[in-house]
Amino acid sequence: METAHVESQKRRVILSCRVNGQAVVEEIDPTMLLLHFLRDKLKLFGAKEACGEGECGACTVILNGQAVASCLVLAVEAQGGEVLTVEGLARDGELSILQQEFVFEDALQCGFCTPGMLMSARALLDRSPDPTDEEIMEGMGGNLCRCTGYQQIFNAVKRAAKREREELKRS
Ligand code: FES
Ligand code: FES
Repeated sequence: METAHVESQKRRVILSCRVNGQAVVEEIDPTMLLLHFLRDKLKLFGAKEACGEGECGACTVILNGQAVASCLVLAVEAQGGEVLTVEGLARDGELSILQQEFVFEDALQCGFCTPGMLMSARALLDRSPDPTDEEIMEGMGGNLCRCTGYQQIFNAVKRAAKREREELKRS
């Protein structure tokens, strides 16, 4: 009985991190995936579980500045870190430039692939504000969609990069 109790105690850790700018402290199973932490514990349903194997990009979030497949990352890897999900892109109820350009270019169809595409694009533009065509293709290469074209997504990222650079110059 005592052993079982100790075992169950061992299986919990306190995870403390920031998610979309908010401090979060939760007790979790150390084997919990980041994707499940976001969806099940924090009720942030933007990141989607599709393949569950790191192949499709539907679960992409940004962890400490890097786009990651949250279905392959343990939640504890976010310990002390920063997570950005699609819910954190809009500010004060206004879509970010990137989201606006996805809408403008019709670069979206379903809610499954779009959040992951947006997060890969966000990470790309953060590390490369003026990406080449090859960089865009490479940056978005891990995000699959079986039903729409990639040209609109490419155009949206390109337009967002331009607008963000212009915005930066003005500020
Ligand atoms: S659900 Fe994570 S990459 Fe497909
Ligand atoms: S998987 Fe989302 S539009 Fe194709």
